[in-house]
Order: sequence, then C-alpha cells, then structure tokens
Amino acid sequence: MIELRDVRKNFDNLEVLKGISITINDGEIYGIIGQSGAGKSTLLRCINGLESYQSGTITVDGTIVSQKDKNTLRRLQRNMGMIFQNFNLLERLDVYDNVALPMKFWGINVSSPESVRRIEELIRLVGLEDKKHARPSELSGGQKQRVAIARALVLDPQIILCDEATSALDPAITREILSLLQEINEKMGKTIIVVTHQMEVVKQICQRVSFLRDGTVLAEGKPEDLFIHPIKEVKEFLQEESGLLPTKGTNIQLFFTDKSSDPVITMMARELDLDFSICWGKLEDFRSNVYGSLVINVKDEDTQKVCEYLDREKVNWEVLK
Ligand SMILES: Nc1ncnc2c1ncn2[C@@H]1O[C@H](COP(=O)(O)OP(=O)(O)O)[C@@H](O)[C@H]1O
Ligand SMILES: [Mg+2]
Repeated sequence: MIELRDVRKNFDNLEVLKGISITINDGEIYGIIGQSGAGKSTLLRCINGLESYQSGTITVDGTIVSQKDKNTLRRLQRNMGMIFQNFNLLERLDVYDNVALPMKFWGINVSSPESVRRIEELIRLVGLEDKKHARPSELSGGQKQRVAIARALVLDPQIILCDEATSALDPAITREILSLLQEINEKMGKTIIVVTHQMEVVKQICQRVSFLRDGTVLAEGKPEDLFIHPIKEVKEFLQEESGLLPTKGTNIQLFFTDKSSDPVITMMARELDLDFSICWGKLEDFRSNVYGSLVINVKDEDTQKVCEYLDREKVNWEVLK
C-alpha cells in the first residue's frame, strides 16, 4: 500500500504540492490526472524518491520514502519500475540488452539461466520476440514503449509508475499499451500508478483516480463518478460543454449507469403524457461499462412531475442552472 499524508513540496518559492493525501491499494490501477503543470510528475518522483518533499509522509508498505536513508531508498526504488513518455531507451543497445539493463545496474549476472529466462519471458510477454535484436531506432513508438515496459518489470517490482506513458502514441497504439498494462495488473498483480493528462487513459484502465490541479487533489474516486458527474474544475479540465441549451423551460441532466439504461425517457413521456426535447447526450465507456448522460428540456410547469418520476425510477438527475 502506498500512503501519502499531507505531502508538501516546493521548488524554492514555488509550492508545487500543497498537502496531498491519497492511498493507493495493492493491486490497484490508480490514475493521477490533471493539466500540464499540475504537479503530477513531481508527485510521482516524490513517491519513488527521485525528489525530496518538505513535509508530510509518503510510505510504501509501511516504509517511509526519504532521501535521508539511501539504503532503504534504494530498496524501495528497486521495487518500483518506471515508464516514461519518451521511453528512455539506450540507442546503442538492442531490445534484449535494454530490457536487461536494470539487472546490470543492480549487479545481477545477466547471463545466468534464470536471468536469461526472465528477460526472454518478458520480451515474449510484450510481444517483441521477433525484435529481440533490433535497435530502438528500428522500432515504432508502441514497440519502444513495450521494451520500456519489459525493462520496468525485469527486477520483478511490485509497483509500476507510468508518467504519460501513452502521451506520445496515437489512439490505437495507446489502447494496445493500456491493454498490456491491464494484463500485467491482472496476471501479475502489480500495482500501477498512471500519471496522465488524457482522460481516455483513465477511462480505459483506472479503478480509481485523483484529479490534481495546482498541486491540490480536487476530486478523487472512480473514474465514472468523476467524469459522469464532474465538479466544476473537472468540467473545465475536460472543456466539456453541453452545447447551447434552451433558455426557456428547465434543463435537466440525467445520469445513467449500466444498471439504469432502461428506456426511462420514452417510458416517462408515455406515462406522464408530456413533451420535452432532448438537447444533448453522450455515452462513455469505462473499463468496458457504458455510462451516459442526457440533457432534456421540459416546460417549467412539468419540472416537478418529471423530477418526481426520475426519483421514483432512481435515475440520478440535476437541474442545470
Ligand atoms: N526541477 C524543478 N525545478 C523547478 N520547478 C519545477 C521543477 N520540476 C517541476 N517544476 C515546476 O513544478 C510545477 C509542476 O510540474 P510537474 O510536476 O512537472 O507537472 P505535470 O507533470 O503535472 O505537468 C510546474 O510549475 C513546473 O514548472
Ligand atoms: Mg508531467
């Protein structure tokens, strides 16, 4: 378990993390989302001890992450694999040797049968058997990131930290890389922290997410709760607009989860025998569950009836002002 308690960090006069408290459970895929400059990378670097922090505590499985005790820090860092946006591969080494690199760094004999088996196994896991002796320059972006993932796993860490790991990749390749991370989470039980500015990433794989703005966690929860029913700041971040809504009557936004996808709207029209217009709608996919929301415009005099009906049908709703 990774626990942050009131973590504060500044670079000279610039306060970058302003009291962050989050808990990340073992085996979880946890997202940290926010705009560029929000403090996401700094937060990740504090977790793996590449940066110090001024106050608060970060513990990993009960051990405090601190730059003061270098031996403990090294042990903690060995248990955290890292993946970056720009892959950080060594051009002079082929795929095999790039994957083996952390072993060399830690003084492990890379030629021992178990090291060779481990490296081969990981290259197979990421689907690059036929590229084993290719140089990074001969690989696509997605393939480079696969090498980086294998490298991050080679010391068998319990935790994988990803800093914008898919931000340089196109949408189709992003989905493949995210599926691979999900597979690693499910099959190997790794805890994965995903730092990203891409909502698609969080939607596809994260079980929980923190929304970070200006060094503060403004919202935390399941991605679907955050994004289907966003607070003002998340809405701004998503630049979501429900378009131009009618200025007459009452606009009501309805939220659907997969359990409430019955044809509530048409049933309501029939049962209450009233007319309304549908102004805006969207469906979103979260880890293969579909959630949606819809804005309807009803006459002011019908508002109460409609709201009562929605309550009765247990549909989540909100009157838009
Ligand atoms: N080494 C550093 N020295 C000074 N300021 C930094 C340093 N690293 C990051 N910052 C500043 O800290 C803030 C947060 O940066 P960062 O953690 O990289 O945000 P994000 O990853 O969310 O884009 C930014 O204002 C950035 O300019
Ligand atoms: Mg960053």
